Amino acid sequence: MKLIEQIRSEFSYISQGCNGRSVVYFDNAATSQRPDSLLRKLDEWQRYANANVHRAVHCLSANATEHYEAARVAVRDFINASSEREIIFTSGTTASINLLANIFSQAKIGQGDIVLITQAEHHSNMVPWQMVCKSRGARLEYIPIKENGEWDLSILDGLLASSRVKIISAAHISNVLGIVNPVEELIKKAHSYGVPVHIDGAQGIVHSKVDVRALDCDFYSFSGHKMYAATGTGVLYGKLHFLEELPPWMGGGDMVDTVTYSGTTYNVPPLKFEAGTPNFIGQATLLPAIEFMKKLRSSEMIENEKRLIAYLEEELRRIDGLRVLGDSPARTLLFSFVVDGVHHSDIATLMDQMGFALRSGLLCSEPLIEKYGYNGVVRISPAPYNTLEECERFIKSLGKVISMLK
Ligand SMILES: Cc1ncc(COP(=O)(O)O)c(C=O)c1O
Repeated sequence: MKLIEQIRSEFSYISQGCNGRSVVYFDNAATSQRPDSLLRKLDEWQRYANANVHRAVHCLSANATEHYEAARVAVRDFINASSEREIIFTSGTTASINLLANIFSQAKIGQGDIVLITQAEHHSNMVPWQMVCKSRGARLEYIPIKENGEWDLSILDGLLASSRVKIISAAHISNVLGIVNPVEELIKKAHSYGVPVHIDGAQGIVHSKVDVRALDCDFYSFSGHKMYAATGTGVLYGKLHFLEELPPWMGGGDMVDTVTYSGTTYNVPPLKFEAGTPNFIGQATLLPAIEFMKKLRSSEMIENEKRLIAYLEEELRRIDGLRVLGDSPARTLLFSFVVDGVHHSDIATLMDQMGFALRSGLLCSEPLIEKYGYNGVVRISPAPYNTLEECERFIKSLGKVISMLK
């Protein structure tokens, strides 16, 4: 069996459909489907490794702790972090960025300081910074994007020279534009002014090989559920010296060293930042998810992905009145588009009836979509295991839907 067929056989929805109808799932940027091998692990661990981690001496707790910590080591190796102590488990990218914004701002952001993000961020990498800037009396500034969706870094030197910029936070890959951003260049430039950088890798971890040491980013966030792991899982990577220096945010069990009525000393990272009972079974699935992702990064699957990108890019742009947002050679398998005179949600609704699961609306990126002058878009985000035949059927169906709605 070819690798792609073997991978596809792991997803029950492909053979079983949904509500009695077949479905081509093109909404992976929101969440991925989970392979059967991972679901079997999840079920096994619910039965035989369900006990609180790091606390009890009994065998169920030992099993749970072993799987939880094995996932941390797997994540360390997957992103090439220096130590598993740099891997904080969270419930997803949103939780990672809220955690970072709060611990970083407590220690390092004051009145009149600047936090820098880009105009193309997901709400999760915008709202937490707006909130902490407001509470610290700091200012949030935006790196502009050009019409084609690429960053305009020409303002960077001017801003960084002011010495008020305390951190830059930017997406590795935009969830709207599908463009791989020049994060290496941004990090190098920021570091030349001594400014640390956080990368929102919610899409980046899915579509590119992430090596945090080669990137030299100071922090990197991502969600497990977009990379085939269980829902409610995620990671905040941080360089150890920062994690040792920064204060905890949430207080509770496991994040403490000693507690008295008069005060508390804290655990070392990463547990300092993991207060309370974590989603230990969910997080443990990061290990089989990473094993699965390695298959998707084989040359056969990468070739398939490239074929799909090239086909969709060409065919979408051929449709009369359809405009794709973002135009860059650094495109991943993610396209957002609008069609003149047709409402985005009508397209998604009719396409659903034809068996295609798409996303429509503001994509949690309201300022960016409004900047382009739209009130919503349609987004397709196939997975590397989708086939050219599915993409061809998609283009044909889309053509039909547009002519019905025009
Ligand atoms: C670029 C980006 N950042 C952040 C998020 C938020 O991720 P989550 O909802 O898993 O916390 C998403 C989700 O789509 C995203 O695409």
